[in-house]
Amino acid sequence: MKADQPTLPKILVLASGSGTNLQALIESSRERDFPGQIVAVGCNRPKAFALERAAQANVETFMVNHEDFSSREEFDAALMAHILRHNPDLIVLAGFMRILTTDFVRAFRGRLINIHPSLLPRHTGLNTHQRALDAGDRIHGVSVHFVTEELDGGPVIAQAEVAVVPEDTAETLAEKVQAKEHLLYPIVVRWFCEGRIQLGGEHIMFDGQALNTPMRLPDN
Ligand code: GRF
Repeated sequence: MKADQPTLPKILVLASGSGTNLQALIESSRERDFPGQIVAVGCNRPKAFALERAAQANVETFMVNHEDFSSREEFDAALMAHILRHNPDLIVLAGFMRILTTDFVRAFRGRLINIHPSLLPRHTGLNTHQRALDAGDRIHGVSVHFVTEELDGGPVIAQAEVAVVPEDTAETLAEKVQAKEHLLYPIVVRWFCEGRIQLGGEHIMFDGQALNTPMRLPDN
């Protein structure tokens, strides 16, 4: 962490699982010119490896176990209290497997982003790789979007594609898509911290212009 640069935008990451996207963000945040600092990682599963990754990087963690709450509203209220303590400029959902309440989403509108393993609006929800195969998609990929009240339905900031080949399985597709996730998410977080992306009404502004189609990660 860059404690000597208190003016950098504060990033708070929420994760539930293995945390490979968190790891990619941690590594990017160590780059000298990275325009933000990860101030905390929050988690809803005590055994999530994401917590380990955060601890290894000396990032503060907090735990809000959804099993300790009898309603989604109570869970979200507790989560929100933790988040507000850190006063983040950006909340990054990185494999955070909870559906958030409308109140939560509204409270952080414009500073809450998610990564979803499909080319939205195709394949919202779960099992996206198998569903892409079942649908005969030739192109699949990943999207980073602002979170709004509609599940996986907020304006898409950027996408990266992968080609689907006949030999692909849900596992091989997951691997290919995750490799793109690890490139794409740090880029979008960087843009946000540089002030290049804003959510204005229902539209995204990128460098002051309305973004009509999502930004694309170039093929490498
Ligand atoms: C990623 O595939 C992401 O697209 C989805 O959840 C997964 C998280 O993986 N939202 P990880 O915990 O970052 O490894």
